[in-house]
Order: sequence, then structure tokens, then C-alpha cells
Amino acid sequence: MPTDSPAVPRARVHRDVVSYVRRSARMNDSQRRAWETHAGRYLVEVPTRETSTSIAEDAHVDWDAAFGRHAPRVVEIGPGRGEALASLAAAHPEVDIVAFEVFEPAVASLMGRLARDGLTNVRVVVGNGAEGLERLFAPASVAELWTFFPDPWHKARHHKRRLVGPAFAGLAASRLADGGRWRLATDWDDYALAMRDVLDAAPGLQNEHAGWAPRWDARPVTKYEQRGLDAGRRVHDLTYRRLPRAAATGADA
Ligand SMILES: C[S@@+](CC[C@H](N)C(=O)[O-])C[C@H]1O[C@@H](n2cnc3c(N)ncnc32)[C@H](O)[C@@H]1O
Repeated sequence: MPTDSPAVPRARVHRDVVSYVRRSARMNDSQRRAWETHAGRYLVEVPTRETSTSIAEDAHVDWDAAFGRHAPRVVEIGPGRGEALASLAAAHPEVDIVAFEVFEPAVASLMGRLARDGLTNVRVVVGNGAEGLERLFAPASVAELWTFFPDPWHKARHHKRRLVGPAFAGLAASRLADGGRWRLATDWDDYALAMRDVLDAAPGLQNEHAGWAPRWDARPVTKYEQRGLDAGRRVHDLTYRRLPRAAATGADA
């Protein structure tokens, strides 16, 4: 299992602000079995930087080779155990989905689920999806980006750790193909409002619904979402479209 490299003393590792908690990645027996059985089929290994979740700047993946075909490409960041991912992949066999998840036990469960469902159109990278989107995808190459229930980081001093902020929105706009979609959902009102403000201000993106999006029918209610609903929280969906780039300039953002 990849872990933080023992060759680099912890104190010397530069720790970027990231949208996740670096936590112990102990797997149970069934997760270990799922990893051993299915990693060869679903996991795409990429070179990492100082920490196992940080994707190297010069990392490269030939996605057509990884999937064995050329198809519209979707990126999901933070699928957790993949409840939504597996269901959406089954509903859309015409697209290939690259999922970035940092928590290895969740990745193991996710791969077990993909295998049980016989899915062939998903590949998984253990790593920071923000870096993965930047480093492993060319500008204008992504048909859809999914960020469902990203960690809310409630405290004001932690807001800088939220995945959806101005810098990430700019990156998303640059990687989405013309007409591509970014689908988001959250069960936290303040994060939903912040997302909407950030995306409304992001050059190249346009809200498809001039407000909250209707729930995407195909997106199942995950355990995580159900916990929010049980606690009385309201779920907000958002969908933004990548506006066409000016053909004459060939601009990528
Ligand atoms: C709150 S959970 C939601 C899981 C899932 N989307 C759902 O709706 O059930 C957020 C997940 O995102 C992962 N995550 C957070 N930041 C990430 C990042 N930058 N790259 C990859 N995964 C990330 C976390 O490890 C966690 O599994």
C-alpha cells in the first residue's frame, strides 16, 4: 500500500493546504481482499510527490490506453465508497470516468463495488483530484466534472481547505471542453451559497439554471447524503456549463 515515503522526514515535507484530512488508511479484511483482487483492473498508478496523495507535476496518463477506447471523459473528485459513481457509470456506459479519491479504504470498497457491478468504464487514482485534474488532463478535454458532497470544512479558518474555491473553479473551467458540465451537490447551505458565488464569478462558466439545479435524477442518494437529510439539512445541486472558447484565439480558459 502506498504510504507517505519513509525516505522523506516528515518535518521536511512541505504540506500544501488540501481539501482532505490525511488519516490512517487501515483496511479491513474485505477491503484488503478487494484491493488485491481488483486493483489491477481499476487502479491507475501515477507518480507522486513527497506524500502519497500528492500527484507529481510531470505525471502523465494515456487515458485512451487505460480504458482501451476513446470516449467522452468524466472526472469525479471524492467519490468516497463510490455509491453514486457505480450507479452513474452503469447508467452511462458511453462515457469513461476517472475517479480521484485520497482515502485508500474507500478506494478498496469502491473497486469491490465496481467489480460486483461488472463495470468497465471507471478507473481510479489514489491522489489529490485537484492536482490530478490539473496534471493528468489537457485543457478542454473533460466532458463532465463531478464534485458531490465535498468535505464542508465548517470553521471559517478552514474555508481555505474547501475544494470549491476560485482557483479550483478556474482550473475546472480550463479543463472542461466547450459545452462541458460541472455538476456539484452539497448538504451545507453556506457551502452551497459560497459555491454559487465562486462559480458565478468564474470566467468561462455559466449557471445552467440561473440558481439551484434540479436534482440530477441519475444521482442516487448516498449514505453520506442520507445522513444530511436525516439531520434536516437541505441538499443543493448546481450545474454549470463551460462556455465555448473564442475559436479565433484558441484560448484554453
Ligand atoms: C464527504 S465525502 C463524500 C463522498 C461521496 N461523494 C458521497 O457523496 O457519498 C468527501 C470525499 O472526498 C474525498 N476527498 C476530499 N478531497 C479530495 C481531493 N482533493 N481529492 C480526492 N478525494 C478527495 C474524501 O476522502 C472523501 O472520501
